[in-house]
Amino acid sequence: MILYFSGTGNSRFAAEVIASVTGDDLHDMTPDLRAGKAPVLHSENPWVVAAPTYAWRLPLVAESWLRGARLSGSRQVYFVLTCGGSTGGAWRKAKRLAETCGLAYMGFLSVVMPENYVAMFKVPEPDEAEEIIREAVPVLERAGRTILERKAFPPEAPQAGGAFLTAVVNPVFYGLFVKDKKFRVTDACTGCGLCEKRCPMENIRMKEGKPQWGGACTHCMACICRCPAEAIEYGKRTKGRRRWEMKEK
Ligand SMILES: Cc1cc2nc3c(=O)[nH]c(=O)nc-3n(C[C@H](O)[C@H](O)[C@H](O)COP(=O)(O)O)c2cc1C
Ligand code: SF4
Ligand code: SF4
Repeated sequence: MILYFSGTGNSRFAAEVIASVTGDDLHDMTPDLRAGKAPVLHSENPWVVAAPTYAWRLPLVAESWLRGARLSGSRQVYFVLTCGGSTGGAWRKAKRLAETCGLAYMGFLSVVMPENYVAMFKVPEPDEAEEIIREAVPVLERAGRTILERKAFPPEAPQAGGAFLTAVVNPVFYGLFVKDKKFRVTDACTGCGLCEKRCPMENIRMKEGKPQWGGACTHCMACICRCPAEAIEYGKRTKGRRRWEMKEK
């Protein structure tokens, strides 16, 4: 079973491509996170965790979801992390996480997908994004075949400074940057409520037809990138900046 967490759709897409090869079921972590419930799941096929990279590591919310999950059946787990460029030493944390969960670590795959961190960086132009996705598809299909054969993923090539980024910079990043105070809504808001429905942290409440952020954000970028009216900004830097969302198939 493929267990995925996705703010803007890249990791959901990765999960879907792998499932198209393995024929496996997909399970979205977001409804469990929103409901605050620990999932109880059974699969005879290996577990595959597909998620974005947040500061060179699996998102902390996805890690705690996995720690809380009651998984029966297969004891093997693969990790597939989508990223804008580098997963650093994320594989080490994933390996340790597998051990903590009593699962056999079958490897880690980094897959470059379009950058979605609009609060910090520019996202790619549409033609660039298309090219990135075109290159990712065969990588994901190959991963699907490896999973079908129950073989381990080949080891990740070491990334310069990866261990430091994951172990040292990641906690600093969460402490300093993962906050929602800079989100604001503009007059373009239509009051549709989609941002409230989509936030995996249940961190948005509609008040008088406008979103309000509640202080429990994990910076997934779902609200700002998926608002149909582009009515959400993050400080000054996102003004006029393109958003990224992988459209559902
Ligand atoms: C909070 C945050 C941190 C990120 N950190 C990294 C990173 O360390 N390395 C990287 O290559 N991309 C990073 N990215 C980019 C995403 O990992 C990438 O765009 C991913 O495919 C988004 O997946 P999603 O659409 O499933 O949410 C980050 C994005 C966010 C929102
Ligand atoms: S998704 Fe956008 S338009 Fe809809 S309520 Fe939220 S901010 Fe307003
Ligand atoms: S408030 Fe926005 S960025 Fe923060 S977790 Fe919710 S949807 Fe993601």
